[in-house]
Amino acid sequence: MRKMTLADLDPRGKRVLVRVDYNVPLDGDGKITDDARIRASLPTLRALLERENSLILMSHLGRPKGQMVAEYSLAPAAERLSELLQCPVILAADVAGPDSRAKAAELTANQILMLENLRYDPGEESNDDGFARKLAGLADVYVNDAFGAAHRAHASTAAVASHLPSAAGLLLEKEIDYLSRVTGNPDRPFVAILGGAKVSDKVGVIANLGKKADRILIGGAMAFTFYRSRGVEVGDSLVETEKIDLARQLMDSLGDKLVLPSDIVIASDLKPGVETEVVAWDAIPAGKKGLDIGPDSVARFGAIIQEAGTIIWNGPMGVFEIAEFAQGTREVARIVANSQGISVIGGGDSAAAIAQMGFADKVSHVSTGGGASLEFLEGKELPGVAALGDREQ
Ligand code: 3PG
Repeated sequence: MRKMTLADLDPRGKRVLVRVDYNVPLDGDGKITDDARIRASLPTLRALLERENSLILMSHLGRPKGQMVAEYSLAPAAERLSELLQCPVILAADVAGPDSRAKAAELTANQILMLENLRYDPGEESNDDGFARKLAGLADVYVNDAFGAAHRAHASTAAVASHLPSAAGLLLEKEIDYLSRVTGNPDRPFVAILGGAKVSDKVGVIANLGKKADRILIGGAMAFTFYRSRGVEVGDSLVETEKIDLARQLMDSLGDKLVLPSDIVIASDLKPGVETEVVAWDAIPAGKKGLDIGPDSVARFGAIIQEAGTIIWNGPMGVFEIAEFAQGTREVARIVANSQGISVIGGGDSAAAIAQMGFADKVSHVSTGGGASLEFLEGKELPGVAALGDREQ
């Protein structure tokens, strides 16, 4: 990584302002349903604590739009972190106000303070320099470990870095290293597996990876927009009509590199227990919709994935949340997990799918960032990384 890392900055006995991404899913009772992002931050926090630092953690949660909304409090995250680290985590009553300042000033070595939700303050999302100064004023150095928020140019990910010595945390460094490795100089063949509902969400990734990958396997509902661009009827399947021309252009420019499913699991409704049927890609009848890729597609995709030196996967193959339409995603996950190549799974839905299928620990890397990994794969510079200090070469 060309940016400063923990090893370069080597803070000892300092107050360290650490941006983490604890934007975790909560159930109706405010209980965390997936703590993967909190666990992913532990190596950085432990490394900093070993060096007798005190930590001031900051994160956003949800989108409270500049208002203090109790349901978006970071209290559940502070509690979970305290359980995981087996030490107290003090939660400030405000973001960078009087309570945070008083509590930060009292911190001694190895103590942890967590600020309240950054997005309680409108200055966070507007990347306000005054708010960034308030955050910076709490500490001596700044570490960004929030890969999941690195595509946001916000005060805690961008502006703050110009007010303190800054470095990437271990998670941010690992994410960038894996994603750079697969997109920069991949072991070949380099296979991208792209799924999800919309072509519009993935067009940037298809265009960018189209220049680098040897094969691009397309699953999920976006396959239907590609089929439509060839004039094929797809029944009631989801189609982005306004993206049909774009899909045609991508197919023309990528040629054989782009591989579409050969068969599809169809049903009359998207609901558990519904009767399903497998049909060829060009035989989806009126009144039925495609909701997963079929076994022949899995076999064809599998033959390509097994040969891959590098695999990047972003987006499920079908509606994996419903058992009847999870088979394609599960089988592709199994093949990726058993492949010899380096395998990187994008965050968001893909990370949820691979975890649900039980293969998360069998792949090389599961990203903690949905939007961030997508923007990286589109070839964009991430503001949260760009803002960090450059390492001397
Ligand atoms: C995410 O969950 O993708 C990140 O935490 C960013 O959240 P945001 O989309 O609300 O900015």
